[in-house]
Amino acid sequence: MITDRQLKEKWFKFFEEHGFKKIEGFSIIPENDPTVLFTTAGMHPLVPYLLGEKHPAGDKIYDVQRCIRTSDIDSVGDNSHLTFFEMLGNWTLGQCNKKEMIRLSFEFLTSPKYLGLDKDRLAVTVFAGNDVAPRDEEAYQAWKECGIKEIYFTSDDNWWALGGGVGPCGPDSEMFYDTGKKKCSDSCSPSCDCGKYLEIWNDVFMQYVVKKEGEKAQKLERPNIDTGMGLERTVATLNGAKSVYDSGCLKRVIDFIGKHARINYEENENSTRAYRIITDHLRSSTFILGDARGILPSNVGQGYILRRFIRRAVNCSRNIGFDSSLFADIVDIYVNEYGQDYQDIKDNRELIKSELLKEVEKFSKALEEGHREFNKVIAGIERHKEFASKTGEKVENIISGKSAFRLYDTFGFPLELTEELARERGFSVDKAGFEEMFKIHQEKSRQATAGMFKGGLADTSKQSAYLHTATHLLLAGLQKMFGKGVVQKGSNITPERLRFDFNLDHKMTAEELKEVEDFVNNAIARKLDVKCEVMTLDEAKRSGAHGTFTNKYGDEVKVYSIGDVSKEICGGPHAENTEQLHHFKIVKEESSSSGIRRIKAILD
Ligand code: ALA
Repeated sequence: MITDRQLKEKWFKFFEEHGFKKIEGFSIIPENDPTVLFTTAGMHPLVPYLLGEKHPAGDKIYDVQRCIRTSDIDSVGDNSHLTFFEMLGNWTLGQCNKKEMIRLSFEFLTSPKYLGLDKDRLAVTVFAGNDVAPRDEEAYQAWKECGIKEIYFTSDDNWWALGGGVGPCGPDSEMFYDTGKKKCSDSCSPSCDCGKYLEIWNDVFMQYVVKKEGEKAQKLERPNIDTGMGLERTVATLNGAKSVYDSGCLKRVIDFIGKHARINYEENENSTRAYRIITDHLRSSTFILGDARGILPSNVGQGYILRRFIRRAVNCSRNIGFDSSLFADIVDIYVNEYGQDYQDIKDNRELIKSELLKEVEKFSKALEEGHREFNKVIAGIERHKEFASKTGEKVENIISGKSAFRLYDTFGFPLELTEELARERGFSVDKAGFEEMFKIHQEKSRQATAGMFKGGLADTSKQSAYLHTATHLLLAGLQKMFGKGVVQKGSNITPERLRFDFNLDHKMTAEELKEVEDFVNNAIARKLDVKCEVMTLDEAKRSGAHGTFTNKYGDEVKVYSIGDVSKEICGGPHAENTEQLHHFKIVKEESSSSGIRRIKAILD
């Protein structure tokens, strides 16, 4: 058996022995980077160095980085996906010696002094080539020389870039452990998600860079190597565990839940999934709430994701008969495990617990109201039935899609909950009708948050939505004054105020502040409609929408336009008309960091 700590120590020792220097991991909340909500990979905070800046620790570095990837949220519950994970990383800056890195990777994986994996259980993938870069013959040869037999080529899965597509990128070579499961088909390969192959490490050869959205990748003058190993997956692999939840600290949490829940972990597929979602989401929540940057549940940005994690954990707890007030004990398990590596969660132990329980409480209240509403719906149908019996009309015990959707949208009732309660009362739910309503709502709604929030509660805090609209107007005003080069560098909204960071090389004068304030108030006075359209990212770009392009090509995005004043790619929610904002007032302008200004403003 190997523990997380032992694997970290092996990683540190190996790279230290090979001339690399340790650096500290960063916060999971990226600083001044509006392209992502969370740090998604170890390379993420290192982008300036990957683009040529000198790193103070030299050009060979390694670390362990806490990461959150929300893109995997729907896969959580299977054997290998997590929203929070630790990534062991190492970088060679300014050089890209593939043969050397592959040799090092092979040594770490197979040497009995390190991981001691059987080389015949390893499979690797290599870049097959596309219109930017040729097939990676060098990587292929290097793996062959190491004696790896299973080498697969792909082009799509072996090109690594940041979520938004902009920044350093290049071909990669991924390492997989063959779990020994039978091939699911003749074409089964590491690209297949049947579970036979488990990805544990990725060597990225960063030989290219995309400088602006939509541009083609160009060769980097000083290429780099960026590698990342998933800690939990590797530990699970080494321990022969069935899933990442069946070893180490995650297993302890699963066991804790098992002691208190009504339904067992392995009772059925749904219960296994519920246990795992609670375990994963509460770890992510612990790290977000505990982060020194101070994020609380809210309706926007990181706070929105946090809220979604907590509420989803509550729903899953209901399904397995687990009391959500015990979440605080789970936080303790995590803080005890990770506190020595991450001081902030140790310092914030009590705050994490109290904020977590506050959100659980808030959600429970909303659910209670939902129960009352549910009873009203049933009573309404019963009355209709009684009345109809006199006229001979036939009324069935079916809750309409519209009612089910209202329960979901206004009271945070997940569809499964409505169905479950309906069953208990001898009713069924018009599921197709619900889905139809859901679709219409997603496409048309300006209050987009509710749609995104599967199984959650549509927070009615209109004030945040209005401040969000004010943020768009503010950016448009700043761009009018200082040019399109001014972009959002950070944003934080509470129901009371907005806080907006942007790049500017000087402190704004009183006149400039007045001018931008007038610009926003003028847009408010013009009573402009706020329109939301759903389109593909490419269409959005062509339409001239401003935005940070975190989605993949082909993905659908929402574009919010405010009259002729602003057009931005954004998740919402927003006001429906600018007149709802009343009056905009800047209360503070200050420096946030070098070259970044911060405005705080209110609507009064
Ligand atoms: N940045 C690379 C990854 O996340 C190592 O896979």
